[in-house]
Amino acid sequence: MSAPLILPREETWTDHDYVRRAAAQGPVVRDRHGIFITFSLAHMQRLVDPFLTRQMETETMAIQGLSSGPVYDLFANSMLFSNAPAHGKRRAPLARSFAVPLVNRLRGELQSLACELVEDHLGTGDIEFRDRIGGQLAARTIAMVLGVPRSDLPLITTLVYSAIRALSVRSPSVLAEAAKDLEALNAYVADLLQEHRSAGPKDFLADYLERTGETGLSALEIRMQIVTLLLAGSDTTRSALTSTMSQLMQKRSQWELLCADPKTHIKGAVSEGLRYDPVIGALIRVADKDLLFEGVAIPEGSLIGPLVVSALRDPEVYSTPETFDITRTDHPRWHPVFGAGEHRCLGEALARAELEEALTALCRIAPGTELTGPPPKLRGLGATRTVGEMPCRLIG
Ligand code: HEM
Repeated sequence: MSAPLILPREETWTDHDYVRRAAAQGPVVRDRHGIFITFSLAHMQRLVDPFLTRQMETETMAIQGLSSGPVYDLFANSMLFSNAPAHGKRRAPLARSFAVPLVNRLRGELQSLACELVEDHLGTGDIEFRDRIGGQLAARTIAMVLGVPRSDLPLITTLVYSAIRALSVRSPSVLAEAAKDLEALNAYVADLLQEHRSAGPKDFLADYLERTGETGLSALEIRMQIVTLLLAGSDTTRSALTSTMSQLMQKRSQWELLCADPKTHIKGAVSEGLRYDPVIGALIRVADKDLLFEGVAIPEGSLIGPLVVSALRDPEVYSTPETFDITRTDHPRWHPVFGAGEHRCLGEALARAELEEALTALCRIAPGTELTGPPPKLRGLGATRTVGEMPCRLIG
């Protein structure tokens, strides 16, 4: 059986409207780009099995006509875009870096950073939340972990958010700008690593360099995993905080519940914010052989996109999945927004800690916060979704 092609998308549909209609056509459907998309959590988990599929490597570079340069180097050397055996070698030195006990040691600093960001904008009138609070929190956290000096934070933050644009298909002019900033970020990371190789402090990077000692990784690979951390840890957390806060502002009773007792509800609020309108659209993979999946023939080499957006509203997993409820108790042990299988997110514990500290600071310092414009739109069913700006006022 071949997979049905779905209807063209109407302008007024949200991604969730579109996905609901697509799912009604069958368990495996081809989207307008020809990607085989699936909807359930069980299918998402099965389709990341390396026995069936592999991670995209430099295929998108070939489509964009790139075979060298900073963007190509990132795709060719990052753990995120590789498969065994290179993937394991690149991931191993960082695999335990963000384990829960280590992240808990950073709690104090995260708490101070979150409070500082909220206090700086308290009562200052209209602000744009996504970049002023979410973006700063995410980029400054990962830069703090890497030991970037405070004076360099504005530069690094700007470079990171510009360079991230190189990870998705863009116009040639945007891609050129992103590539230039990615090159500057590479050079910065190279200097940072050099300082640690010579006489740097015994910190995260020193530990990382020590672990890479026996792996046989090239200097480029060693550097690209750190660039990957800066990119993978910034946009995702910025968007997740914005999406969660947007839902809480729109569902005022849920916000009031959280503010009344943040200690009790904070973990639930974070998990639900990550679920309801997630920042990840799909896990994109390539069929490693001819597959017959749910009766649908998927030829080797086809792109497959198990939709995270819909797995997170799978009625087999979540009761009343269309309801935003910070008290729900049916989140799976492994939150699907962080992926599945060998590439499952390395930064989950850090991201959760950032979100918990930011929301707690907002509840305690600015419980009267309100939106001052339309809520941001989350768009896209690719790997990462884009999140619009969120005008609001932080009020005590
Ligand atoms: C809410 C925030 C975040 C979300 C939703 C998220 C989600 C994800 C997902 C879905 C993947 C797997 C991609 C795939 O299978 O193709 C991933 C991988 C990754 N994430 Fe995150 N992430 C978040 C925050 C972070 C943070 C804070 C860091 C860094 C400190 C980080 C570092 C990474 C790395 C290094 C990988 C690649 C792992 C590998 O390829 O083996 N992420 N993330």
